[in-house]
Amino acid sequence: MKGIVLAGGEGTRLYPLTTVTSKQLLPVYDKPMIYYPLSTLMLAGIKEILIISTPHDIDRFKSLLGDGSRFGISLSYEIQKDPNGLAEAFIIGEKFIGDDSCAMILGDNIFYGSGFRGILKEAVRLAEEDKVATIFGYYVQDPERFGVVTIDEAGKPVRLVEKPTKPESNYAVTGLYFFPSGVSDRARKVERSARGELEITTLNQMYLDEEKLHVKIFGRGFAWIDAGTMDSLIDAADFVRIIENRQGIMIASLEEIAYINRWIDREKLLEVSEKYGKSPYGEHLKTVAQGRIHYEGNQL
Ligand code: G1P
Repeated sequence: MKGIVLAGGEGTRLYPLTTVTSKQLLPVYDKPMIYYPLSTLMLAGIKEILIISTPHDIDRFKSLLGDGSRFGISLSYEIQKDPNGLAEAFIIGEKFIGDDSCAMILGDNIFYGSGFRGILKEAVRLAEEDKVATIFGYYVQDPERFGVVTIDEAGKPVRLVEKPTKPESNYAVTGLYFFPSGVSDRARKVERSARGELEITTLNQMYLDEEKLHVKIFGRGFAWIDAGTMDSLIDAADFVRIIENRQGIMIASLEEIAYINRWIDREKLLEVSEKYGKSPYGEHLKTVAQGRIHYEGNQL
């Protein structure tokens, strides 16, 4: 399975913070925002990842993340010239995806919770073996801000609406999607919405129509934050700070995940940790290399 991080957009809701930099490079406590969505794809076991951003921001992502070898993964880069919508990512990434299945995560979506790795692995399995797409529902107080899914008593999706004025359910569709092979062909069939975009909701609707859409609900205690507004940016930073400091762990430490996945060895981990200097992130990687981190089951 391949993976895409979509880190486009002008970030106008965050001006002047994003006047000269990309939203997905802003700090979320102790690391740049894009580390979080990247960590999600890595936890899913995905090693080939395409980062899509704007023509003026793409080089900064390249300088930050390089070819991905320090995380034991392979990174490539493409640009999205205009904000034409999320489904366009699968057209831009058509060559990269080839005949493979593909996950996509939005560059400002942060996920954290116990058992997350297992949930991701099941979504990968469904796409690869059963040719079924997976989206994730999350109960929120303000569903009108999101794509919204209605589910029946059996947990099956019955309706999808993008930013409804009168939401029929409180389940927001999060910015993480798993699709079986053939997603680019379907994305090419998506027609522009009233706001002129190729909506991911229209793409998801195609899978729903074919009864090939699975909805997994993230329940109580699971954290999903889209860090695209002033308040959610601070909320995300607070959340990460509190959990990290309380438990002495680090959320979205990419080299740590690579090490646990056995994508890089201890020597590489130590070498990379030096590049982060005396920062808490660098110190954390050294602690990991010394085997002094406590892991509970498959928590990471
Ligand atoms: C996008 C999607 C929406 C989804 C949301 C999640 O909205 O269109 O369906 O619920 O991401 O973050 P946007 O953030 O682009 O307004």
